[in-house]
Amino acid sequence: MGKADKDSIAPSAPRSGVSRRSFLKGAGAAGLAASQIGLPALEAEQTRPDEAASLGPDPVPVRFHVNGQPYVVRCEPRVTLADALRDQLGLSGTKVICDRGACGGCTVLLDNEAVVSCMVLAVAAQGKHIQTVEGLAQGDQLDPLQDAFIAHDALQCGYCTPGMLMSCKALLAHNPTPSRSEIKTAISGNICRCGTYPHVFAAVLAASGQPDEG
Ligand code: FES
Ligand code: FES
Repeated sequence: MGKADKDSIAPSAPRSGVSRRSFLKGAGAAGLAASQIGLPALEAEQTRPDEAASLGPDPVPVRFHVNGQPYVVRCEPRVTLADALRDQLGLSGTKVICDRGACGGCTVLLDNEAVVSCMVLAVAAQGKHIQTVEGLAQGDQLDPLQDAFIAHDALQCGYCTPGMLMSCKALLAHNPTPSRSEIKTAISGNICRCGTYPHVFAAVLAASGQPDEG
């Protein structure tokens, strides 16, 4: 857990195409919107007697369980869960592709619900249980869903695969025998540029013990 013990993390790479002027305009608009719609919630949050009034901007400790193991990381409140998992815990199976909630590559399970971790702040995962693609296999024993992905050739370049697996894992946890239509809905947020969708449907049907009738 060496990396997680660091008091600070390397700053994120600058986002391309965002000028200082456009960033400040966006931040101002966001601040105005927050002041209009979020103030009561914010005040309630800040007046909780058992919590600090505000967090950051310096790193703060965040405690959560990842793949069954307890961790404490220190990160600035602006850091996403995806970046904390990758940069502080070294769990690079979670892919950050679009970094804006549009591709599903960073999907993990947060208290058994699929979330895009690039849109979740690490501090928001305080006290929660997270499962990443690294947590699917038990030692050398792959999860049956991973076996089915291999057997049905449900990956090509593999870049979308961790997020795809976690969305399918969440689906099967809630619905052990999903229909093809339900599988489509479950992975509708996962973009596969290689077009492996029919193979993913076949893999999930096989992993759930159902025939693939096309
Ligand atoms: S990297 Fe998170 S949704 Fe694309
Ligand atoms: S297997 Fe290449 S993006 Fe899905």
